Amino acid sequence: MTSLRPELDVRLNPNAMRAALEHDAAVGLTSSPKTLPAVWFYDAIGSELFDQITRLDEYYPTRAEHALLEAHAATIAEVTKASTLIELGAGTCTKTRVLLDAMAANGTLRHYIAVDVAQSTLEAATLEIAAEYPGLKVTATVADFHDLSGLFTGEGSKLVAFLGGTIGNLEPSARQRMYFNLDSELDSSDAFLLGTDLVKDRARLIAAYDDHEGVTAAFNLNVLNVLNRELGANFDVENFTHVARFDEQHQWIEMCLRSTSHQKVTLKELGLEIFFEEGEELQTEISAKFTAEGVRNELSEGGFVVDHQFDQPGGDFLLTLSHPYC
Ligand code: AVJ
Repeated sequence: MTSLRPELDVRLNPNAMRAALEHDAAVGLTSSPKTLPAVWFYDAIGSELFDQITRLDEYYPTRAEHALLEAHAATIAEVTKASTLIELGAGTCTKTRVLLDAMAANGTLRHYIAVDVAQSTLEAATLEIAAEYPGLKVTATVADFHDLSGLFTGEGSKLVAFLGGTIGNLEPSARQRMYFNLDSELDSSDAFLLGTDLVKDRARLIAAYDDHEGVTAAFNLNVLNVLNRELGANFDVENFTHVARFDEQHQWIEMCLRSTSHQKVTLKELGLEIFFEEGEELQTEISAKFTAEGVRNELSEGGFVVDHQFDQPGGDFLLTLSHPYC
């Protein structure tokens, strides 16, 4: 069999990305407290830094999820009998292969649709997948997961995978919107596989977001370089420090950049001047941590029936397999 070239489906054009960044920066940097959505971490450098994070000793989620996928992919393939795998936030498609192999072994695999905002990373990754799986139809879809309508063009029954714990970047209300959107694109013979990080010992949680080599700090600070480059801003990264803490009330890790002085920053292309007090924080990410019961509850509120939950002794991470109930 010959390998087919990945098909490219661009739903987010550069103008729309740019408009979204301008909007997020203008709104987030003028609110109190200041915030910025986590999606803006992932320029080429940020994507590379995240890749390094996944290999850090302190960052357990990637390894824990990979082990769960290795252990349960065969069951997932058999239970769902899916012929199309749709991966949201596919990134470098590392975990994808485990699912693709299981679906191929099951004899049902036809089509892989990788969805991500980072076009260059996605194109490179899907090219490799197409070469490794001759005969597999591969689609690289450049989109964010707020608008999923019409993305799921695959044949046969579909398995949508949203892995890595990325759902935790969304607040509960945004998670519910996401489940409803997914629900309206799928029917009851399709399936949804969700990867979530679990609540655990606070010191381990915090260390995963504040590693001793400072890779996570560099990842966090890099978002200021993105603003400098894209919006003509003049953030001095030397004037901010990386902060990671666990918010007990919301059960999420919160990452911030803390201003070390009273300072003014100009965002030329927005015609915007903002001020930071000494010690003032810009919130750059939330990463929610879950319990198995919490995941079941929010999925059923969002229109899904939970079929299986997979975790390991010690319970670092959780995979939940569900399907829409109508
Ligand atoms: C890619 C969103 C799953 O929340 O753990 C890693 C991003 N931030 N270290 C996470 C991240 C800091 C990661 N997700």
